[in-house]
Amino acid sequence: MLAKDIRQKFLDFYQQKDHKIIESAPMVLKNDPTLMFTNAGMNQFKDIFLENKKASDKRVANSQKCLRVSGKHNDLEEVGKDTYHHTMFEMLGNWSFGDYFKKEAIEMAWELLTQVYKLDKKSLYVTYFEGSVEDNLGPDDETKKMWESLIDESRILKGNKADNFWEMGDVGPCGPCSEIHIDLRTAEEKSKIDGKELVNAGHPQVVEIWNLVFIQYNRLSDGHLQLLPNRHVDTGMGFERLCMALQKKTSNYDTDLFAPLIKAIGEESKQKYGKNEQTDIAIRVIADHVRAVAFAIADGQLPSNTGAGYVIRRILRRAVRYAFSFLSIQKSFLFTLVKELTEIYAGIYPELQKQQEFIEKVMLEEENNFRKTLESGLKRFDDYISSHSKADKIVDGNFAFELYDTFGFPPDLTALLAEENSFSFDETGFNKAMSLQKKRSKDASKKELDDWVNVSEGENSVFVGYDHLETDCKIIRYRKVQASGKEFYHIILDKTPFYAESGGQTGDKGVLSFEDDTIEIIDTIKENELTIHVSKKQPKDAKSRCRAIVLADNRENTSANHSATHLLHASLKKILGNHVEQKGSLVRADYLRFDFSHFQKMTDEEIRQIEQMVNEKIRENIALDEQRNVPFKEAIAKGATALFGEKYSEEVRVITFEENFSSELCGGTHVQSTGEIGVFKIISESAVSAGVRRIEAVTGQAAENWIYTRLEELSAVKKLLKNPQQITTAVEALLKDNQQMAKKIESLQAEKSGGVKEEIVAKIKEENGIKWFKGILDGSDSKQVKDIAFQLRQQFPDLIFIAGIIQSEKPQICIMISDSFTASHGLDAGKIVREAAVEIKGGGGGQAFFATAGGSDVSKLKSALDKAESIIKNELN
Ligand code: SER
Repeated sequence: MLAKDIRQKFLDFYQQKDHKIIESAPMVLKNDPTLMFTNAGMNQFKDIFLENKKASDKRVANSQKCLRVSGKHNDLEEVGKDTYHHTMFEMLGNWSFGDYFKKEAIEMAWELLTQVYKLDKKSLYVTYFEGSVEDNLGPDDETKKMWESLIDESRILKGNKADNFWEMGDVGPCGPCSEIHIDLRTAEEKSKIDGKELVNAGHPQVVEIWNLVFIQYNRLSDGHLQLLPNRHVDTGMGFERLCMALQKKTSNYDTDLFAPLIKAIGEESKQKYGKNEQTDIAIRVIADHVRAVAFAIADGQLPSNTGAGYVIRRILRRAVRYAFSFLSIQKSFLFTLVKELTEIYAGIYPELQKQQEFIEKVMLEEENNFRKTLESGLKRFDDYISSHSKADKIVDGNFAFELYDTFGFPPDLTALLAEENSFSFDETGFNKAMSLQKKRSKDASKKELDDWVNVSEGENSVFVGYDHLETDCKIIRYRKVQASGKEFYHIILDKTPFYAESGGQTGDKGVLSFEDDTIEIIDTIKENELTIHVSKKQPKDAKSRCRAIVLADNRENTSANHSATHLLHASLKKILGNHVEQKGSLVRADYLRFDFSHFQKMTDEEIRQIEQMVNEKIRENIALDEQRNVPFKEAIAKGATALFGEKYSEEVRVITFEENFSSELCGGTHVQSTGEIGVFKIISESAVSAGVRRIEAVTGQAAENWIYTRLEELSAVKKLLKNPQQITTAVEALLKDNQQMAKKIESLQAEKSGGVKEEIVAKIKEENGIKWFKGILDGSDSKQVKDIAFQLRQQFPDLIFIAGIIQSEKPQICIMISDSFTASHGLDAGKIVREAAVEIKGGGGGQAFFATAGGSDVSKLKSALDKAESIIKNELN
């Protein structure tokens, strides 16, 4: 059975069991402070489990793209070494929100596995939770009993908290779980060791395929479990492992999900997969990582230096390093695999196919850059080895950490390189440096959240801000937060006009006004789907009603910038072409920023055309056409623009400014008609990364101010030029005059140099067959003295020239040594000038025959020259 049929069978099965089949949520998360990436199918339902939101369907199923590379579920270092872990994987899941519970979840899973997929019952094992003293929980006998009616008792195993109590993170929804494991070994192997001995023991052919979680609790920040009002089911089946079982393979990488990638990597590296453990690991690492990185880029997460982008960068670098170290692939090639990947997922995840070229470009640049870094790192390593080859022959832990931190060398690579050079590697020192850095960054980003304090009953922050800037409301709950040593309060209202930061638009500011108290709201943020008002002050009387008031000016300017962003987006598509995809945006009150895919720098002409098109649309004063609750499919069918990597509900809001011009799915706030934007001005166009350009622009009063500033500069210049008719002609004339004067000065200086040179020659003294000049050349500059020194070098084969100059009140030293002395006596002007420069509190350098230095203490210039002289004399003797 092909992977795509296996996936489809799962979805069909649950659809028949009254589940709604939904799309995978984006793999990269936007509004969850506790997670960077979707690490389980249930993430997108967290708000439902926590009762922050009502489920619109009680039974749901999907295939979810997950990434487990950070936080509580991190498999990165395992990937490649075994045959059944991945960074990115698909999780097939079914959910019940307060509907069916253990019995039905178990029965359905069993029916699917044994009757639809027809897996042999005798190859399966199931587990149940044995209980936990620290959590005061007894064994899950209910689950055990249910399994007893389906499977032989000897195949039901109990498991501890680590394996049989599932938690998404340190806090949040959780509960006991029941795992299903499969034993894929041969009959002969099975007869030697009983499969149940190998469950959860890391055997590559006895693996967990499905986890059925019975969500009942919320883990609080103090570690306690709080019973949730409803019980839910959250199941997750490892799709790649299921494919391995159904395709009768012994490794996920042998299934049709990976085989084309493995083949392509084998061809590129000229290594046969399955012949050597080390190269096999490298091939698996690359196959896995390319898939993860490509999907992340497709979801809008570009590799970068911070946060989620940095995690993606590290995954890609790990792949490059394995290609480099173990497959000896010398050129960038990961991007070539995107083609295979796109074919594997054709028709399933269209985001890959639609952005293939873009993903390739980003990967190529990233790999090129990292390969350069690797080379510099290797050079640094070689230097280290040569300078330490006579010493203790240890690669020091701090140095290894520098290689890791600056050049992306992980410790295993450093250890390998050390071994190749017969050095030992101070791993303890490395680990120490690493944990120090981790501690530093943890301390810097430390944020402590208290549990919520419930104040009153009601809905959670129902948003009324599209229609109102003020509303009467009450506080539902609040909590204290400590971040960067400061104290804040997070407040949830039943109703709110405050727009929470999302979709690139910054959060509203304003106040909560109580009868005898006012609280300033400094920001409004989103946590999953919850709107949180951030304040520095705790509400005095949280129970009393208040009026929530948004700062109107700030909101209006932000709305103008958001609408302008839509006009800009549409104009870019019209003028540059349909390949333009939004890759990020920032909409603030004072300016806007828009990132988009495009492969060249924009020309001035293109920028002008964009500005003109946007301004034309502003002058047309197009009325906002805002439609709420449009079915997603209908909106897309009508041509509204949706973004990759964005999570949309089934019903969306569509913002249109003139049909056929700009129509986007958008939750942001907008002007009522484009005329309110006033004027639009692009202030910069630049590159963000390969294939991504950035436009920064201003509108309304900010644009006016920007234009005034430029005009003021221009009139200041005009004034300086004595108000000419044509500024350009006047500046051109000025530049021309300048050029002519420079030429004149040059020839005058040459004349003068001749004079200075004559003076110098006259002062040359001879001592023991060596010609000497030493003196301060008043009124000369360094360029002139250098020219003279070079002429003297030609003229005298036996001269030592030590000159002092004072330029802009700063001392300089200039030393020229004729070639005969540098060769025969090993004199080095560079070294000498450095020593002499200490006198004038400065430094410098150069070549053996000529060197210069600058300093700050003019009073010591003469003694510096004396010092140079005596050094040379010493060396000549
Ligand atoms: N959330 C559970 C897991 O990730 C089941 O989906 O294993």
